[in-house]
Amino acid sequence: TSVDKGGHKHFMAKEIAEQPSVLANSLGYYIKDGQVELPDGGIDFASIDRLTMVACGTAFYACLTAKYWFEQIARMPVEIDVASEFRYREPPISKGTAALFVSQSGETADTLAALRYCEGKADKILSVVNVPESSIARESDLALPILAGAEIGVASTKAFTCQLTVLAILAVKAAQDRGHMDAAQAAEALEKIKSVPALMNQALSLGERTNDVSKLLAEARDILFLGRGPMYALAHEGALKLKEISYIHAEAYASGELKHGPIALVDKHVPVIVMAPRDALFDKTISNMQEVMARGGKVLLITDKQGAKEAGDGVWETILMPEVDPFVAPILYAIPAQLIAYHTAVAKGTDVDQPRNLAKSVTVE
Ligand code: G6P
Repeated sequence: TSVDKGGHKHFMAKEIAEQPSVLANSLGYYIKDGQVELPDGGIDFASIDRLTMVACGTAFYACLTAKYWFEQIARMPVEIDVASEFRYREPPISKGTAALFVSQSGETADTLAALRYCEGKADKILSVVNVPESSIARESDLALPILAGAEIGVASTKAFTCQLTVLAILAVKAAQDRGHMDAAQAAEALEKIKSVPALMNQALSLGERTNDVSKLLAEARDILFLGRGPMYALAHEGALKLKEISYIHAEAYASGELKHGPIALVDKHVPVIVMAPRDALFDKTISNMQEVMARGGKVLLITDKQGAKEAGDGVWETILMPEVDPFVAPILYAIPAQLIAYHTAVAKGTDVDQPRNLAKSVTVE
């Protein structure tokens, strides 16, 4: 079946707008009566000691986000790597390891090779894919579909938030299997995930605001993204999205690492985008933000109303997000990251859906 832009100027805009409804599909598929239900016999994380997650590009940042979830709520040791490194470093895979591969297309050559490396070594091979008939899905013991529907824009958007959603659900299942959550606590965590589509609709209404800010960002040569915890992963995804389609040089740093080098880059020409939902590390992130401002940096703060109040004066621009539980904040904060990249690219007049030098699916090494 052919896919059209549904009245949007670009596939990317359509795919950003679609997220609340496609996410609801994944939620309906995996959550039944307040409990996680996996297809094909699922997996029992009680018999798994550690998780190795491997992917490329945006899918890798979904793994980086999920590492925080699996470690925090399921107390599960997690190793992550980009597939092109993983496959050649020949990592020892000990008994009790589940290997999990995340891929929109299910055909990325390096990710597939990494999966094949784990065959016969890992106890269980899992994949989180958008294309259920893909090579990666077929070669996994358990393939978990993200149900995002066809993604046409080269820069991944709805596949990313659907990957995050499936991984968050999987982390809840792992927490429950490993005795770190009882059924009621799992149901409560799943309710938080189920609250995301409605919050996303609110965040999507920030389109105009991000459009205004993006006109300013389009003038920049370099842009930094900062975050802590799972927001560090989102900072990476925001920087990747921006460089992919606007061709502006963008880098992500862990907020606390700023003082160890990158702060030397800060001056009044470098916008610094701070992703700061009010989570356990909010105060620390804000103090790093103040270090940037003290050096004349232009801060674009993404937080909620109370967060903006606590951050005080002197911020260059603010994007006000809905209040959200910290557990699911990474899924919601993907929206402003995507909107900023999209509007900045549009302001610069680049080819949003087909950025230069990039391919939707990289099936050669
Ligand atoms: C390409 C795409 C990216 C994508 C990456 C991994 O580089 O341009 O958007 O994140 O491949 O693709 P996959 O299909 O494995 O998720």
